[in-house]
Amino acid sequence: MPAADVAVAQELYAQHTAVRPLVERIRAVADDLGTTAADLTPVRDLVDRLDTELLPHERAEEEQLLPIVARALGGPDPVGALSRTHAEIEHQIRRLRRALPDPGERPEPEDVVDLRAGLYGLYAVMQLHNAQEEENAFSLMPAGR
Ligand SMILES: [Fe+2]
Ligand SMILES: [Fe+2]
Repeated sequence: MPAADVAVAQELYAQHTAVRPLVERIRAVADDLGTTAADLTPVRDLVDRLDTELLPHERAEEEQLLPIVARALGGPDPVGALSRTHAEIEHQIRRLRRALPDPGERPEPEDVVDLRAGLYGLYAVMQLHNAQEEENAFSLMPAGR
């Protein structure tokens, strides 16, 4: 791997590690979401952070990491699965945003059920995605990362 690519991959790996607690926060927020008299403030705050912290990281990986990995691996579409998962993450976060009632509006129990399902779904996708990135992309960096 050329030195410039290693530097970019290392930078992205540092980001990748830094967003791990935010990914764990997705499950914690889902676990704490009561169906009755649900306070959606933690969900709103989380969705804001997913937009401002997680998505910029995933987009940076899509734009900068996947081309490096594709060059290193070669062959037809070596990063197709990772790229499609990035699109799925974007899609699920958009859906969570749409499932949030307007601020000040009382959430219906089914809104809360939808939000909780969306949070657990996103958490599962993120766990798998991060494991695949670590095994199929970051593992290509030279040792000592
Ligand atoms: Fe990542
Ligand atoms: Fe990613």
